[in-house]
Amino acid sequence: MRSQRVLILDDESSLRTALFRVLDRKGLNVITANKIEEAKVLCQGDTQVDLAIVDLNLPDGDGIEFMGYLKNLFPATEVIILTGHATIESAIRATQKGAFHFVTKPFNLEELMSLIEKALTHKKLQQENQQLRSELNKKYKFDQIIGNSEQIQGVLRLIERVADSDSTVLVTGESGTGKELIARAIHYNSPRAQGPFIPINCGAIPSELLESELFGHVKGAFTGAIANRVGRFEMADGGTIFLDEIGDLEPSLQVKLLRALQERSFEPVGSTKTVTVNARVIAATNLNLDEAVENGRFREDLYYRLNVIPITVPALRERKADIPLLLNHFMDIFSKNKGRGLNGITPDALDCLVNYPWPGNIRELENLVERMTILKGHGQIDNSDLPVKYKSSKAATADVGGLEIPDAGMDFNSAVDAYENALILKALEKTGWNRNQAAALLRLNRTTLVEKIKKKGLNPPNEVNPS
Ligand SMILES: Nc1ncnc2c1ncn2[C@@H]1O[C@H](COP(=O)(O)OP(=O)(O)OP(=O)(O)O)[C@@H](O)[C@H]1O
Ligand SMILES: [Mg+2]
Repeated sequence: MRSQRVLILDDESSLRTALFRVLDRKGLNVITANKIEEAKVLCQGDTQVDLAIVDLNLPDGDGIEFMGYLKNLFPATEVIILTGHATIESAIRATQKGAFHFVTKPFNLEELMSLIEKALTHKKLQQENQQLRSELNKKYKFDQIIGNSEQIQGVLRLIERVADSDSTVLVTGESGTGKELIARAIHYNSPRAQGPFIPINCGAIPSELLESELFGHVKGAFTGAIANRVGRFEMADGGTIFLDEIGDLEPSLQVKLLRALQERSFEPVGSTKTVTVNARVIAATNLNLDEAVENGRFREDLYYRLNVIPITVPALRERKADIPLLLNHFMDIFSKNKGRGLNGITPDALDCLVNYPWPGNIRELENLVERMTILKGHGQIDNSDLPVKYKSSKAATADVGGLEIPDAGMDFNSAVDAYENALILKALEKTGWNRNQAAALLRLNRTTLVEKIKKKGLNPPNEVNPS
């Protein structure tokens, strides 16, 4: 972090020198001036002044007026006014205009130093708070959720309504549809926004560790538990816990979670002491929990506890109207980050993308734009920039059942090729890109299928295609 910058403005040279020495020794970046004109010159440019120590009566003007000038340039600058002949009026005027403090000469250097430290700490904290606030606003305002389609607008209206309550929310939708984004938007627009948002991915943590992650443990509860540890539920006290991939929770933990939800309390692993927390619960899954309940893989009672307010996030292919908006949004993001930029797409290429089924949803679109930004750098995206699978998708998703030969005739080979693509992609989608199963489904030899996939440049959703 840069060192803080302090301006000393006083016409008394012994005072300037004395203050300069102590502040410089503290590692601060100190500048000095003996009159306002000089100080104004030093404050040009955009290096912020964090603190100014300003004499009230200067040869070429009034210290309080200079303070106004300075705060205009750098609104967050702290100012300490020094004066030899204090009047109550000038002290009041200085404080009303935003001075941090008012000090009468002669002053005690130690006292002044402690005041300076206070002012600098105050400045730093304010700056950090402001940074945090703008981070939050930037990240989680509703307008970060892009989409004009009726489907996504419906979701937005719903989350606006539920944000205010403390009800448990279950967000479902395919992978990459924005479930976590929605969970954060609910939290940061709720009365708990100042409290923590604590995510935990129940599918990514080995089940033997998950219980202690969720509920904490006490020292000695198991090998490796060398100290007490607070779980995510307790961390989320006063805020929101986001239970991601809840469908992957194993049965014994489903029981413990159910109890925690019902009673708002639980015992950490190895402890007999009950911990009570006040945390809002938002859960998410890309599984069909109805089905999991029917199959006996997910407890019905837990399902009802979680599913108080269900939010279903539509797949991208069900809201194609949002594709151009999202494309622009991600082009903006990646061009800013990488200092270069794509700035549009040809109608043909857009047509391909709109017709593509997007199994990886918005995350897949985001990855595609990032990749094209890196490879192409700038300009308009056209067909030749798209990886093969996006280009062939128009034919691939065409209704191959309704064969028609246009009056003008057609190209037999490319039609057969498109039909092949469509069948292979369908089989792969159906089997979650399991090549063995897809080959079996099409009664093809696995090697033949793999070769065709390679030749056609077909890639599963999140895999980077080197072509
Ligand atoms: N409507 C949207 N507008 C802008 N960006 C979005 C939108 N929806 C999702 N994203 C972005 O897409 C990416 C994936 O979203 P997110 O992680 O929320 O999806 P998810 O549903 O939780 O996926 P998974 O099930 O794989 O965990 C994120 O980078 C997110 O910011
Ligand atoms: Mg997620």
